[in-house]
Amino acid sequence: MKNFWNYNKEYSKLRKNILFSIDKALKSGNLFFGNELYKFEKTFNRLNSSKFGLAVGSGTEALYIALKCFGIGVGDEVITVSNTAIPTASAITSAGAKIKFVDINENYLIDPHQIEQNITKKTKAIIPVHLYGQSCDMDKINKIAKKYKLKVIEDCAQAQGARYKNRYVGTLGDAGCFSFYPTKILGGYGDGGFITVNSQKYFEKMRRIRFYGIESLNKKNKFYGKYYSNEQGINSRIDEIQLSILNIKLLKVNEFINKRRKIAKYYKNKLKDTSLKLPEVGIGNKHVYHLFTVYHKKRNEIFSKLKKRGIKLNIYYPYPIHMMKGYKFLSRNKKLKLKKTEKLSQGIFSLPLYPELSFKDLEKFTKSLKSVMKSI
Ligand SMILES: Cc1ncc(COP(=O)(O)O)c(C=O)c1O
Repeated sequence: MKNFWNYNKEYSKLRKNILFSIDKALKSGNLFFGNELYKFEKTFNRLNSSKFGLAVGSGTEALYIALKCFGIGVGDEVITVSNTAIPTASAITSAGAKIKFVDINENYLIDPHQIEQNITKKTKAIIPVHLYGQSCDMDKINKIAKKYKLKVIEDCAQAQGARYKNRYVGTLGDAGCFSFYPTKILGGYGDGGFITVNSQKYFEKMRRIRFYGIESLNKKNKFYGKYYSNEQGINSRIDEIQLSILNIKLLKVNEFINKRRKIAKYYKNKLKDTSLKLPEVGIGNKHVYHLFTVYHKKRNEIFSKLKKRGIKLNIYYPYPIHMMKGYKFLSRNKKLKLKKTEKLSQGIFSLPLYPELSFKDLEKFTKSLKSVMKSI
């Protein structure tokens, strides 16, 4: 069975630089909180036009830290979608809050109309997930958030570099959470994440939460640099070795995004005459195509025909979170029905797409898919 994603091709191209950079990081004498961290945070903020930002251990921890920083926990509700990666939900429940899942629109993103209908006295935040690589309808979401005094934590794990009305995701809400899981737009060679935030007060708090609550930024704090916890925190450090790799790849993010866009364009052009529902780009959006997700109600038939040709594709996501055993009982309403989310989960699947996908593989796969589609 053909396995499309692998990092080896990229690694052989970047190997020399990566090994040099790792060696430099190791020789520096700092395994954590060294120059690589300083450089990475500065560059990420510059490239993303974000005021403040901090690197953390993973995208899941980024969401958790943002929630904790805004004081969201036991007794509170957070509105988000069920068609997302499990960590969007796990961060909320780990923080102690309850999830209120709402339905999605035709672009597979949170439906702002559903948000307002689901706000209660307990609602404290909205987590719009910029799924597959494009931004949610942030004007509408921010308007609702302002009206009800809710925090907006953008889940940007799949959308680094995406823009909404010319502004980068992560700068549109109160905080933006990114992931550097290897398959992401900026993929590390291990785990990593980032939080962008536009308030210095929250930025400093997030930095403390990242490191057991220790003050490591504000020199005026009498406990600066001391092993003293100012507030409850966790360990979400990211090490200098991982950052030395990310620092090399960070400067290539636009190149990666351009390659993704080219592949998406190719698919759109070649598949436009098939009965597949292709992804649409929302008004004012610049998509980065972390995933190229299509929909067809005969997915099972398409999959079994592709399987005969040695092709296996992935589904993001096969089960909406409110229907998974682990989360069914944690969401506010146990009998919850999300019509669109449930219907779409039965027919969505994603086509191979990553910067190092060769044109030969792309062409070959598209031909196979087209010929399968003719027989459906
Ligand atoms: C939408 C979404 N949110 C959050 C995360 C969590 O990121 P991480 O795997 O870095 O914890 C991911 C990645 O898996 C994701 O796709």
